[in-house]
Formats: sequence, structure tokens, C-alpha cells
Amino acid sequence: MEDWVAIGYLLSAALFIFGLKKLGHPRTAPFGNQLGALGMLVAVLTTIFSMQLAGDAQWVLIGAGIALGSLIGYIMAVRVQMTGMPELVALFNGFGGAASALVALSEIQKYIDGGTVPEGLELTVTMVAAGLSALVGWMTLTGSLLAMYKLKGGVSVFGKWIKTPTWGPSWLNPVKVMLVIAVAVLIYLSIDDPTNTTYLWSIIGISCLLGIVLVLPIGGADMPVVVSLLNSLSGIAAAFTGFIIGNSALIIAGSLVGASGLILTFIMCKAMNRTLPDVLFKSFGGSGEKQSLTRTKVGSDADEVAMMIDGAQKVIIVPGYGMAVSQCQHQVKEFADLISEKFDTEVKYAIHPVAGRMPGHMNVLLAEANVPYEQLIEMDEINSEFPECDVAIVIGANDTTNPAARSGEGPLAGMPIIDADAARTVVIIKRSLSVGYAGVDNDLFYMDKTMMLFGDGKAMMTGLNNAIKEI
Ligand code: TAP
Repeated sequence: MEDWVAIGYLLSAALFIFGLKKLGHPRTAPFGNQLGALGMLVAVLTTIFSMQLAGDAQWVLIGAGIALGSLIGYIMAVRVQMTGMPELVALFNGFGGAASALVALSEIQKYIDGGTVPEGLELTVTMVAAGLSALVGWMTLTGSLLAMYKLKGGVSVFGKWIKTPTWGPSWLNPVKVMLVIAVAVLIYLSIDDPTNTTYLWSIIGISCLLGIVLVLPIGGADMPVVVSLLNSLSGIAAAFTGFIIGNSALIIAGSLVGASGLILTFIMCKAMNRTLPDVLFKSFGGSGEKQSLTRTKVGSDADEVAMMIDGAQKVIIVPGYGMAVSQCQHQVKEFADLISEKFDTEVKYAIHPVAGRMPGHMNVLLAEANVPYEQLIEMDEINSEFPECDVAIVIGANDTTNPAARSGEGPLAGMPIIDADAARTVVIIKRSLSVGYAGVDNDLFYMDKTMMLFGDGKAMMTGLNNAIKEI
């Protein structure tokens, strides 16, 4: 029987690893997702099989838990808007961390209830792993919930919209360090007295507080990095818990989540030209401090833009968050098809790594509209093509094209951008001249070569497509 359990866990671990590999490319990502889900199903079934359950009551509890969890997960996944995905991921991270910490807690509860307490090294390893699981798990829960509300821009309480503050006085950093030290001391003390509930509740309380003080000073624009880091932490909490209950699948899955979350965190930091300590300890854009706008620009219309595109040999489309909000990816694809058929124009898409609100946001939307993957070109590769580009069409992108990022100052300082301003003509589709996520005014809008098409992305793209059809 033990052999079957080992084989089951090995199979689930292999499915997780192959699933992760397939997630590396948009074309194979859906299959990778299915492999990961299958791996989780195998792990759950193997665990149930290994438990040698006695009596109907436990089956009912476990069955009800699985059914309820699956139903809630299904409803949330079906109902979530693409733009709300980061919030959902943050929520799931929090639940993952808390679940791991609860499992670790239930093991310690066995000692408190009079179960056999291990001795020597085994006790030390168990208490350290349980303490770290509690630290990381509870911190992930409160940090993720706060991150979720920050991404939403606040929380509605009794009809009033309460904003979560971005608040980070410099004395808070030593407080964070002291809280971590306090947990370390409590874990050390709990090894000598494993049934002392004061230590246990203090670790849980301080860890919850730590999650809040860690996320509180971080601005909205850095929130994706935080969500990814918390995702990594939820995996680490799971791995610690795996050690305590001796479950190899949990150790492997937790380590994979921990490692991949950390890799993604560093990729995003690099794309925003920020270091992880900067993200964690310095407040940044999206905090509500937006630059006030003093300049104006006369808007163009669809017919004018269509006439200008007639004759363009090369057009580069630069999508951003506004494309996701207006869900105009299908109209964008129709536009690309129209001009390449009608005017024989070469069309490419410039993809910024943090365009939108989650990693791969633009790739996912454009893949949904069946845009060929070969046309989606990463920022580093496409930037050299803008000087030979006749028209750059910027659809709902702002920060990721803002030349202010090239200056050494302000919230966007140093972030690599799409060089749309190097194109011969720039067309920008958005509803107003308003700032993007980082709250910085964009010089690109006011350049002589820039034409502004003011309006909702979908309405504007539909109008532009109609105007092109009439030429
Ligand atoms: P943003 O700078 O956020 O600008 C998006 C623009 O879309 C806004 O200025 C808005 O202007 C326009 N817009 C909104 N709704 C629209 C609609 N219905 N139709 C047309 N336009 C609409 O977008 P970006 O260039 O994609 O940059 C992303 C920013 O988010 C970066 O600062 C990045 O660091 C941050 N961020 C990224 C991520 C990840 S991982 N991708 C996650 C969170 C935050 P109007 O109001 O004038 O229409």
C-alpha cells in the first residue's frame, strides 16, 4: 500500500513539473494548466487513499469539503473578469497560506490534546517547521487580503468606499524586523514547551500583523510584485507543512510554487526596473497621488486616422490596460486583418512585460482573439523597429509608453518602455488625457506627430474599422 501512495505522489509531482513547463508558452499554457489540475486531483485521491479512513463521518466531512471548495472555486473562476484576475490570485494565495498554517496547527493541537510529543531532533524540526509555516502562512493570509483590497482601490463598508492607505513611515522598517525576531524567539521557546498555547497564539498574532505592516506601505503599481511574492510564500508555507505531516507531494508542490513565484517576482521587478527591497520598503506610484494635468490636445477622428493609415507600410500596435478594460481585442485583430488585406500593411504587436494588470495580460487577450503568436513581439525585440514604423497605434496603454520613464526621476524612473514615440506617426486611443497607473502625465500625447482618438477602446476601434472599410 505504501508503494502505491509513493507512486501516486510521484505521478502528481511529475504532472506538476510538466504542467509548469507547458505554462512557459501561451500556446501550450492551457494544456499546462490542465496537467497541473490533474496532478492536484491525483495528489488528493492518493492522500485520501493513504488515510485508510475509518467510519462514514470522515468520508462525509472530506466529501463535503471537496464539494464545497470545488463549487466555490468554480463559481469564482467563471465569474471573474479578466481585469479582476490579480485580485482573485491574491485571494487564493491567502487561502493557500492559511490552509497550510491550519494543517500545521492541527498537528501541534494533537500534542496539546495529550498526544505523544516527539523528542530530540524530531521535536525541534517539527516545532521549527510548524512555527515557520505559521509565520509564512498567516502573514500570507493578511498580506494577500490587504493586497486584494489595494488592487481593488479600496473596500466598500456600509455603502462608503474606504480606501486602504499607502502608509510607510520610516520607523516601520525596524518594527518589521523586530516582529520577525519576536517570532523567531517564540519558535525557539516553543521547542522547550510545545504545548504552551501562549507561544502558539502569539506566533499567529504577530504573523498576521506582519502581513499587514509589510503590504501597507506598498503602492498599487507594485502590487503585482507583492502578489507574486505572496504566492511564493504560500508555496513555502505548504512545503514546511509537508515536512510536519510527512507528505512528499506537499513538499514538492510547495517548493515548486515557492520557486516559480520567486522567479516571477524577479522578472516583474526587472520589467519595472525596481529592486525587491525597493518594492518592499519604499512606497511607489498608484498610491492615489496623481499629477494634475494642465495641457490640452485636440482630438482626431476615425476617418482622419483611416486616411493616414492608408499607405502605411508598417504598423505596430501597442496594447495596454485600456484594451483589457474595453475588451476590444477582437476589434484590434479585425483592424490588423483589414489593413494587411486592404493596404498590404505589415502589422506587429509590441508587448510590454507589465502592460495591463497581470503578467502575460496582453498575450492572453490577443491569443483569445486568435492573433498569431509570431506577431506578438516582446519589448526588447520590437523597440529597434519603431524608427522604420509608419504608424504606432497605442490602444489603452499609458505608463508603458511614457517617455518620462527615461528621465531619472518620478515613479516611473528607469522603467523600460515601448519606444512608440520613435514611430513616424503615433495614434493613441483612450478616453481622455488622464494619467496611467503610476499617476504620471505622458508627453507622448502632446507631441506634434501624435493623433489622439478620444473614446472607449471598443467604440473607437469599431469606428476605425468602419472607416477603413469605406476607403
Ligand atoms: P496604464 O498606464 O495603467 O494606462 C491605461 C490607460 O488605459 C489609462 O490611462 C486609461 O486612460 C486607459 N483606459 C482605461 N479604460 C479605457 C477604455 N475603456 N478604453 C480606452 N482606454 C482606456 O496601462 P499600461 O500602459 O498597460 O501600464 C500598466 C501599468 O500598470 C504600469 O504602471 C504597470 O507597472 C502597472 N501594473 C502592471 C501589472 C502587470 S504585472 N501587468 C499589474 C499591476 C499594475 P483613460 O482613462 O483616459 O481612458
